[in-house]
Amino acid sequence: MNQPPKLNIGSHDLPVSAKLADFMMTGWADTERTDVRPLPCVPFTAPRREKLSALFAGHRLIIPAGTFKVRANDTDYRFRPHSAFAWLTGIPGSEAVPDTVLVFEPRGNGHDVYLYLHPRSSRESVEFFRDRRHGELWVGRNPTAKEAEVAYGIKVRHINDLATDIAGKSDTILVRGEDVKVDGLIGAHEREGELLQMLAELRLIKDDFELEEMRKAVEATVRGFEDVVRALPDAMKSERGERIIEGAFYTRARTDGNDVGYDTIAASGAHACILHWMRNDGEVNDGDLLLLDAGVEVESLYTSDVTRTLPVNGKFTDAQRKIYQLVYDAQEAALATIKPGAKFRDFHRASQRVIAKGLEEWGILPIPAEESLDPEVGLHRRWTLCSTGHMLGIDVHDCAKARADQYLDGVLEVGHVLTVEPGLYLQPDDLLLPEELRGIGIRIEDDIVVTEDGYELLTKDLPRHPDEIEKWMARLLENR
Ligand code: GLY
Ligand code: MN
Ligand code: MN
Repeated sequence: MNQPPKLNIGSHDLPVSAKLADFMMTGWADTERTDVRPLPCVPFTAPRREKLSALFAGHRLIIPAGTFKVRANDTDYRFRPHSAFAWLTGIPGSEAVPDTVLVFEPRGNGHDVYLYLHPRSSRESVEFFRDRRHGELWVGRNPTAKEAEVAYGIKVRHINDLATDIAGKSDTILVRGEDVKVDGLIGAHEREGELLQMLAELRLIKDDFELEEMRKAVEATVRGFEDVVRALPDAMKSERGERIIEGAFYTRARTDGNDVGYDTIAASGAHACILHWMRNDGEVNDGDLLLLDAGVEVESLYTSDVTRTLPVNGKFTDAQRKIYQLVYDAQEAALATIKPGAKFRDFHRASQRVIAKGLEEWGILPIPAEESLDPEVGLHRRWTLCSTGHMLGIDVHDCAKARADQYLDGVLEVGHVLTVEPGLYLQPDDLLLPEELRGIGIRIEDDIVVTEDGYELLTKDLPRHPDEIEKWMARLLENR
């Protein structure tokens, strides 16, 4: 395990004298940790690895955590491990070491699993104070191999041994594109696509640990939405009020979790009509609506994905309420379809039916709703724009690589976690709309888990009904 370090040194780092190097390597206390215990996820991650192992008997599988992604020049984004790696190892986001690689080494009908890791740099080499990437005095402490083995329940090897250990071995299937160094070590394999597919499909049904993490993500997100309501008076005073909103939520995400699960959409006024408005550089004005689509990603990397559309001053106008109520009714109709065995597309269809009928009643839809609801027609979609939900988990759009028959064309099963998020987006320049409705965008997005007898609304603590929203906002704004 004692490898000569290849140092990652920056262009402006000054040389270090031999005297300084010697001096730096002496006089340190022993800080080996003796209190490390297996993480609570360990009883759940081992069966996940076994399921994957059973699908690929005889093949070596390589799942990199990934590496840094450049933000600009020689500075990187904060590291976030690959979702399948996180699912298989349970390593929390803040602890994950860039460049780690998970290897399933075939043995008999199963696999031995190894975590190839850059462990804590000892004080016997200059790495700990010179290496920008792994040096303890640059980025903090990595676990030692022993600590990692105990905490994660996986055998650990040094990352520097990976190339030698897998050199010349065939039948290796890689999750490609996450770590360019590992990509270079392994040739293409015809089952690469299948590995990704399986890593998505195995994640469709959440285990009890995952459901607990989802609940934590939702709880933190609810606190974040409360913070945002309290920040509204400040947001109204700023030229970039949407940034105040984004910042308020981000503070909660970083305080209570690992990060936001995706870039926050803080869309005020007509910006709410843009599905993924992430520029967030607009004003937040009295009388407008704020569409906030945001989710806290907890340390285990599970994220919630929630949208509320809130009246900035705490009270919906009649026009806003009329549109909000239609989206609310669409969401109620969608939720009512959710149960094991229902088709994944059913909840989307149910919400679209309510919205198409509403648009017909308001004289906006130029054809009868029934005709519009024919998938070959779909004119109402001018105002709904996107589908009504998706799987949710470690990725905000979870299990995206699952085959259609398992997901989009499949049926709901107990343990599926998904969003239900109907919306109406009435563009400010849409001449087919009455003037008083233009520039209003509403989305209501909730997270649910499918249960034996229907579903559990994970986001139940965040009000949805317009009356409840007004009461909730009044309470928060009074007790600021
Ligand atoms: N926040 C992205 C989505 O709702 O799917
Ligand atoms: Mn969503
Ligand atoms: Mn969302």
